[in-house]
Amino acid sequence: MTNQLFINKKINTFDKKIVVSGDKSLSIRWVLLASQAIGKSRSYNLLMSEDVVAALEAIKKLGIKVIVRKDHCEIYGKGINNFKYKSGLVIDSKNSGTLGRLILGLLIKSPIKIKIIGDKSLSKRDFSRVTVPLEKFGARFFYKVKNKLPLSILGFQSLKGINYVENKGSAQCKSSIMLAALNSSGTTSIKAKKSRNHTELLFKYLKIPIKVRKTKKFDFIDIKKPKKINAFNYQIPGDISSSAFFIVLTTLANDSKLLIKNVNINPSRVGVITILKKMGARIILKNQKNYRGEKISDILIKSSKKLKAINCPIELNSSAIDEFLVIFLIAAKAKGISYFKDLSELNQKESPRLIWGSKILNKMGIKTDLTKDSIKIYGQPNLEIKKPIIIKNYLKDHRIFMMSTIAALTFGGKWKIHDKDSINTSFPSFLKIVKNINNKPL
Ligand code: S3P
Repeated sequence: MTNQLFINKKINTFDKKIVVSGDKSLSIRWVLLASQAIGKSRSYNLLMSEDVVAALEAIKKLGIKVIVRKDHCEIYGKGINNFKYKSGLVIDSKNSGTLGRLILGLLIKSPIKIKIIGDKSLSKRDFSRVTVPLEKFGARFFYKVKNKLPLSILGFQSLKGINYVENKGSAQCKSSIMLAALNSSGTTSIKAKKSRNHTELLFKYLKIPIKVRKTKKFDFIDIKKPKKINAFNYQIPGDISSSAFFIVLTTLANDSKLLIKNVNINPSRVGVITILKKMGARIILKNQKNYRGEKISDILIKSSKKLKAINCPIELNSSAIDEFLVIFLIAAKAKGISYFKDLSELNQKESPRLIWGSKILNKMGIKTDLTKDSIKIYGQPNLEIKKPIIIKNYLKDHRIFMMSTIAALTFGGKWKIHDKDSINTSFPSFLKIVKNINNKPL
């Protein structure tokens, strides 16, 4: 089977209903927290992608029993930090920054060194955002290259809560500290720049002592060590980040309509909807519900003929951080010059996404002004691509692959997109859903 995708025809008009797979952030958090609970936890609709399977493999290596059944997954937790392993343990985080960073918080007490490795992309990414606060707890780290994987962690036994200011807006950093706090006496206080709050909501649901005070830019979080965590079942809702590719596909397609069922619309994740609506996209939220503190909804999208440029408010950056690549495609089609700024974090992802986003737009014939933390995109409402476009050597960043596929299906051109298997990290059924919407093989 070839690992390249060829697209030389735009998508046909469609009117469909789809479900996307489970939310990646919630799936990984369920795995890690279920490993700390006492007894059998179950999850339904757990995302079975490489990142989440890597999380399951990681807790198995730490002595936790996991059973993957046909329609659910079971984890037999043994309580907080009740891991069993021999010396020389290596945990492979593969492509997952969330797993690599969050698990270090759980390993804050490990009496022997544990090595964390990752793939080529993850090994280029910065770990200081978690090693610095975890060192404040007393953990020690050993590296070949400072603050990069592979690294080893050696925990600390008499842990006390810390005070920490998280000012990147990194939910991975915040969550890693929160997991370390489960093992620490006293109070851990975090002043955290706004970022996704799934860990806070799960802590509340699990009755872990947590207080959150919200201000406009920061959340002030206090956590105390719980006596225990009870096993819990969880139905993982659909992933808004995966949905975003289809929201954009429908917006850019001709006279089409799509209903995406049961998606997590946590307010800290829906920047993409706010931004696209400001640009003229037609998106309606239906059947809104609450589930264990998370908001869930169906999303109805209709194609848009008139899209306009945006000067994107920086307050929306964190809640759209994984969606900017596809938002850039809307900017490519919009009337006027769009401006996205204060986005240096985008270059810290699975690939340097600000640079790659600009590169792909340029290949499409769209002019951009790129700096190290901003991009201006000169939209062309009538853009029709005719030429061949090749996308390769992008560190197998799943979101680059999916962005390119959506661009190919909506702007035309003869695309050859390498590394099809990159989608397995977050959204293995992506191409099946595309085929289903298109009614024929790609
Ligand atoms: C995630 C947090 C974000 C996001 C990533 C998932 C999480 O990263 O980009 O895809 O599940 O906590 P940062 O915390 O580094 O911003």
